[in-house]
Amino acid sequence: MAAATMTVIDPVAALAELAPVGADPVRGGWSRHLLDDADRGMRAWFVRTAESLGLAVETDANANQWATWAPAGATGKALATGSHLDSVPGGGPLDGPLGVVSALAAVSRLMAEGHAPARPIRVANFAEEEGARFGVPCLGSQLLAGELDTGRVRDLADASGATYADVMTAAGYDPGAIGRDEPRLRGIAAYVELHIEQGRQLEPLGTPVGLATSILAHGRWRLTVTGRGDHAGATELDSRRDPMVVAAEVVLAARDRAVAADPATRSRATVGKQRIVPGGSNAIASQVTLWLDARAEHDVDVRALVDAILTDAANAAAAEGCDVEVAEESFSTRVAFDAALTDAMDDALGGVPRIPTGAGHDAGILSAHLPAAMIFVRNPDGVSHSPHEGASDEDIRAGADALTTVLRALT
Ligand code: GLV
Ligand code: MN
Ligand code: MN
Repeated sequence: MAAATMTVIDPVAALAELAPVGADPVRGGWSRHLLDDADRGMRAWFVRTAESLGLAVETDANANQWATWAPAGATGKALATGSHLDSVPGGGPLDGPLGVVSALAAVSRLMAEGHAPARPIRVANFAEEEGARFGVPCLGSQLLAGELDTGRVRDLADASGATYADVMTAAGYDPGAIGRDEPRLRGIAAYVELHIEQGRQLEPLGTPVGLATSILAHGRWRLTVTGRGDHAGATELDSRRDPMVVAAEVVLAARDRAVAADPATRSRATVGKQRIVPGGSNAIASQVTLWLDARAEHDVDVRALVDAILTDAANAAAAEGCDVEVAEESFSTRVAFDAALTDAMDDALGGVPRIPTGAGHDAGILSAHLPAAMIFVRNPDGVSHSPHEGASDEDIRAGADALTTVLRALT
């Protein structure tokens, strides 16, 4: 490996470098989806920056990127850290990139101060964490961990109809090689992910960083409602079979059922995406596809919430003379992060708040396979998955400081 340089990465400057990549002129914010131009730009930045530090960069069969610092004396399994560089459509600047940038910044600082890690430190950029292109969140980490049926993944199609297999092949990957990566997984002792806080729990506590306790159980369901396309002016109201009416009822059922659930279940349900066919302003739609995101404290709470919403959907469809088909696109079980690892990080940080989250993360996927934990950085407004997501420069640097402290203590 090339000798370590004394370059120290400033996370705020690194995020500024990334700001032009994937800026979305239509939706605002940033749109960076698996292996599109923006995602490739982010990936190229990862390689360039990691190599500038002398790290050994690899891309695995599942399109995850890894950059390893293994100086003399660093032996055994690696401590992994990082996050993702893809985004939701029109997302914020920090969800994902903050963790990758902070990981590279932390490694650069440890190098510059002459830290001699006892084990390698490996920085990860996980592919398609948001599932924005192919519908399955944490796609790269789930494939790595062997959590997905690889045949089904190869057939997943994006909005243009291109399959995952097509997109991977065009980018030079072998879609036949995706799936559980035993040696890579076994080469990681633990994973620590730094992430922008999604929600507003740290602000009232007056502290820039916290540690994660748990992630809500969550999943995505695709509902395809089929009715009869017709003329918006000529069709009598009593003879319509309008899937938009059903879709509207599903949107309201999602809210109503989540509100009606026991508050202890922390239930929430959202329809954030729909596709209308044919989509003419003077035409009754023939088909509407909508995506339900449902989350709650425990798996059974999510199942109960979704069952209730789907019953409402079936009733609304019957009343309107429409059909509804349902497909579960993903389900992620509740996560409790590793207590011993989190305690060790807390000791290193001198005691910080611990908070739960409703957002999914690669750390949550990996937690079923190895010790995993997370650091959150204060988000003053709590907003995320939106261009309005933010953190102060001071807090961004405090987050990178905290990750540096943790990596120093754990290696
Ligand atoms: C990912 O950020 C998710 O929680 O959907
Ligand atoms: Mn996200
Ligand atoms: Mn994220």
